[in-house]
Amino acid sequence: MRNLYATLTVLLFFSRIYAEVNDRYYPRYHLAPPQGWMNDPNGFCEFKNEYHLFYQYNPNSSLAPGTIHWGHAKSKDLFHWEHLPIAMDPDQDYDRSGVFSGSAIVENETMYLFYTGHVNHPGQSPDHEEHQCLATSTDGITVTKYPNNPVLIGTEHQPDIRDPKVWKHLDTYYMVLGNSFNNNTLGRVLLYTSKDKITWNQVSIIDESDGFLGYMWECPDFFELDGHFILLFSPQGVKPKGDKYRNLYQTGYIVGDFDYSTNTFKPIAKFQELDHGHDVYATQTIIDDLGRRIVIAWFDMWDQNYPEQLDGFNGQMTIPRVLSLSKEGRIIQKPVPEIKSIRGERVHIRKSAGGAIVPLNDNAAEISITARSSNNLELFIESQNSSKSTVSINYDSRHRTISLDRGGNDGLRRTEWQPKGDLKIKIYIDASSIEIFCGRGEVTISSRFFPDGPVQVRLGDKSSVKHLRVTNLNRTV
Ligand code: FRU
Repeated sequence: MRNLYATLTVLLFFSRIYAEVNDRYYPRYHLAPPQGWMNDPNGFCEFKNEYHLFYQYNPNSSLAPGTIHWGHAKSKDLFHWEHLPIAMDPDQDYDRSGVFSGSAIVENETMYLFYTGHVNHPGQSPDHEEHQCLATSTDGITVTKYPNNPVLIGTEHQPDIRDPKVWKHLDTYYMVLGNSFNNNTLGRVLLYTSKDKITWNQVSIIDESDGFLGYMWECPDFFELDGHFILLFSPQGVKPKGDKYRNLYQTGYIVGDFDYSTNTFKPIAKFQELDHGHDVYATQTIIDDLGRRIVIAWFDMWDQNYPEQLDGFNGQMTIPRVLSLSKEGRIIQKPVPEIKSIRGERVHIRKSAGGAIVPLNDNAAEISITARSSNNLELFIESQNSSKSTVSINYDSRHRTISLDRGGNDGLRRTEWQPKGDLKIKIYIDASSIEIFCGRGEVTISSRFFPDGPVQVRLGDKSSVKHLRVTNLNRTV
């Protein structure tokens, strides 16, 4: 008995240590896992007046995805999240190597969760297979897998066919799936339909890579936006070209038109990157009850080994963003207006000249800048202690580019930006992340960075602004 108590005490002690993540890089108002590993957003939906977000989750380690589960959280305002019990374990024969990504639709007070059951076959060729599965929840917490899973086998498209995104149009259910074909050399998106959510038939190929767009398209999403259709996906294997496609994998979109009577998609523009920073991947959108198309993404990238892993967690989500389409065919992204609910104290600086400094509170703030677009602008987010520049932001008025440099190898990301009128920039800092929204949201740059203590904003010596406003953002977790 004594021994048992001793063992239990030791176990409890270690589980406590393990459960406690170090605060320094842990986000104050972005969703991150309670501990362990997080990747893609999954099953984003509104259920009984609350937003639910599931995610790829390894509760056992922050170092690697392991055999992935579905983690789960809910929120009324997309900022104050409540962690819920793990929604799905890889506990069935058909998903034993991972409950991979997927999406949700809500009907008759029931969540229908579609996901990919991943099964490894070590030493065989191909060494894995993927099938689409269904699970349901009526209370928004307990998830039950459909007894006759999988619902979609896709024999002819193995072994990489995954990440179902499902929606309903009139009396038909639609599902897009990411796929690799031509011996894993080309990526594409397949379209399936169903009348009952159980029996699925392939009806078309939405679009496919001609080589330039890589060997596999992950996490496809397909939706109407301001009169056109958007194919949003994460292609793997796109080669860097100048300032473009510099991440390990990309996330971007093709604007086009879709005909429901023939299931054909006609692109009207080339692939464009959704974000120009280092760390936006595996997006998922919903249309919510207010009619807003909201996107959320994994705010991280594969194979980065960021230092937070040693603090007991890995990964987080971006700020949820409302999407619209500009006349020029570019997706505009704005933080959801609920961000108002976490604003705290404000510091205003008007007509500021170079060198102005505003220390941030708790490394969490919204920074708004208005400046003349005919001048260059240089801004630093740097450590208060060492004034070591951690991130620098530069607007180059001659070349009309905006850049972020987080230092180190491959620290620079740069893109064209043609501001209309004044330069208007909003920057969100949260412990180990920065999201920059330019103009109306026609350019965004989102990256992770890892400061060595409290940070401050400093205006470059030669820069001046009409207005600089720093607003503290409160903790929600
Ligand atoms: C994208 C992805 C998906 C897959 C999941 C596995 O990041 O590779 O294609 O379903 O992650 O965790």
